[in-house]
Amino acid sequence: MKLKFNNNGKFKILLFGDIHEHTDYKTNPKFKDMNKLMNAALDEYKPDLCVLLGDNCNTDIYKESPEKFKKMLCAVIEPITSRKIPVAAILGNHEHDNGFEDEIVAVYNSIDGCIMRNDAPPEITGNANFKEFVYSSDGKNPVFCLWFIDSNNCHENRDISHYDYVHPDQIEWFEKECEKNKELNGGKPMPSFVFQHTPVPEEYELLRKARFWELPVAVRGYNTKKGTFYVGKKGTEGYVGEGPCSPDVNSGQFASWKKVGGILGAFFGHDHLNDFWGYHDGIFMAQHKTAGFRAYTDGCRSCVRLVTIDEKKPGKFEHELKRFKQFGLKSESLGPILRTISDRQSFWLHVLGYAAAAVGGVAIIGLIIKILIEVFGG
Ligand SMILES: [Fe+2]
Ligand SMILES: [Fe+2]
Repeated sequence: MKLKFNNNGKFKILLFGDIHEHTDYKTNPKFKDMNKLMNAALDEYKPDLCVLLGDNCNTDIYKESPEKFKKMLCAVIEPITSRKIPVAAILGNHEHDNGFEDEIVAVYNSIDGCIMRNDAPPEITGNANFKEFVYSSDGKNPVFCLWFIDSNNCHENRDISHYDYVHPDQIEWFEKECEKNKELNGGKPMPSFVFQHTPVPEEYELLRKARFWELPVAVRGYNTKKGTFYVGKKGTEGYVGEGPCSPDVNSGQFASWKKVGGILGAFFGHDHLNDFWGYHDGIFMAQHKTAGFRAYTDGCRSCVRLVTIDEKKPGKFEHELKRFKQFGLKSESLGPILRTISDRQSFWLHVLGYAAAAVGGVAIIGLIIKILIEVFGG
């Protein structure tokens, strides 16, 4: 499959985070809601490529029936494949849960229009490390590189880190491949994006420690950072809904991006609530919340993100995020409360609003009683 810029010089990538689909998809309204979001986004954006950011489909069923697993996956991506749009997928930690990673990669790769494979030698950590070039609109030269990196599962020693990280041998392979890309790009680092499931620890650089009065809207850090509460720092946009669940050990992946050059941005899944984004040390990082309704989430805020690159401006890109409700969709799977109060921040705003209204109401009634006593009582 050869990806290339359109005749208008653009290439649009539509991202879907953590769908976590299950085998009861045929009857479950949560599947219907995810499917509605996917269809609406595809109709509106007409992307050139879709990316599933890992934890896509429950792999438990693979052990019982590889066919059932494939059917479920085909049902999930049907809105994409039926429109003849290519879809690239990465492995999330949950695709590593049952020990069938290579088989699962083969299932993805067996579906027409679906890209998932392992370009790295088998001794390199991970089961699906690969890259795809986006070629110039005339189809002659690779001008942009999309990296799909396997961020593995949980760490084998939880005293070291809860989640695993991208290992040094993966980073070494990536750097060697970047050198090859450089040769193809006239000796300059090729502009690139990285897509991977688990965020790098540097994602915390987009946050800062919360002040005391910010605690109602702050999030608690994850695992070794659980003693600290965070909010987005100046320049960080989007929704910080939970402490990023990045590894507790820094394997040097972000430093490697800086070293090789050309990495414009990195896009992560894994945290189902966060959709914030910002720059750290010149590299854009965006967290992508779930596009589904299966895993823990927060009402109708499930969303997609569109990233657009431009052949004429290879060092620049545009992105936008759109939520379920913003497409004008109505949820069939959520109850009335989650349909309206759909995140912790607006929950607290609602509570404070009601409390202020109650206090104001009591004060007004008191004032009226006082006036009445003065006029008639005295
Ligand atoms: Fe997930
Ligand atoms: Fe995950």
